[in-house]
Amino acid sequence: MIDVAHDQLFAEIPFVENPVYEKIIHDIAFQQYSIIDDFFSSEIVSHLRQSLVAKHEDDRFKKAAIGNRVNEHIIKSIRGDQILWIDEKKANLAEALFFTQINDLVSYLNKTCFMGILHKEFHYALYPKGTFYKRHIDTFQNDDRRKLSFVCYLNDQDWTPENGGELVLYLDDNGVDTEKVIYPFPGRIVIFESQIIEHEVKVVETERLSITGWLKTR
Ligand code: OGA
Ligand code: MN
Repeated sequence: MIDVAHDQLFAEIPFVENPVYEKIIHDIAFQQYSIIDDFFSSEIVSHLRQSLVAKHEDDRFKKAAIGNRVNEHIIKSIRGDQILWIDEKKANLAEALFFTQINDLVSYLNKTCFMGILHKEFHYALYPKGTFYKRHIDTFQNDDRRKLSFVCYLNDQDWTPENGGELVLYLDDNGVDTEKVIYPFPGRIVIFESQIIEHEVKVVETERLSITGWLKTR
């Protein structure tokens, strides 16, 4: 009979560095954004895509807004995507796996960088052909608790740059304005500082699918 005290067994659970999370932390510290390909497995991405498409066919998406007192015509000249918020408590299997990974990332960020992320919110987004989202900042009219913006692309495996819909980050590289062009390849995630980075979604030539969300402080 092995007689090991309960405390001894559980006292020293070693901290294991996660190289992907470390890259995100390093990138954000040094350039305020991070791009990770294959953050989610292709199975999860494909299930999330199917889930998005099914809910969209169910007519559950709404035209995205940009704040109160702005009429629809003006909104269309700023952004043309349709969105559906995802309720973690009612998550289907694909969404539950998505949130498992998000929650793991959040607890890592809070543990290692004291980021103080207490809330999060995510929505599906569908950009029909011909739509875009003009240059903006995510905390503009919305929510100054937004700390990190998070986008995960759910497009088909055969997505090509000709399909448009690039995410462009407007960066200040030591006083020099630079544009970082990011293609929305499936499985790719982009994380950036919500309060700092202006960005835009270029005109989409083929329906463009994603999940967008924010990690928020109190
Ligand atoms: C947004 C946004 C970027 C993208 O929804 O606020 O900027 O690449 N999305 O979809
Ligand atoms: Mn944005």
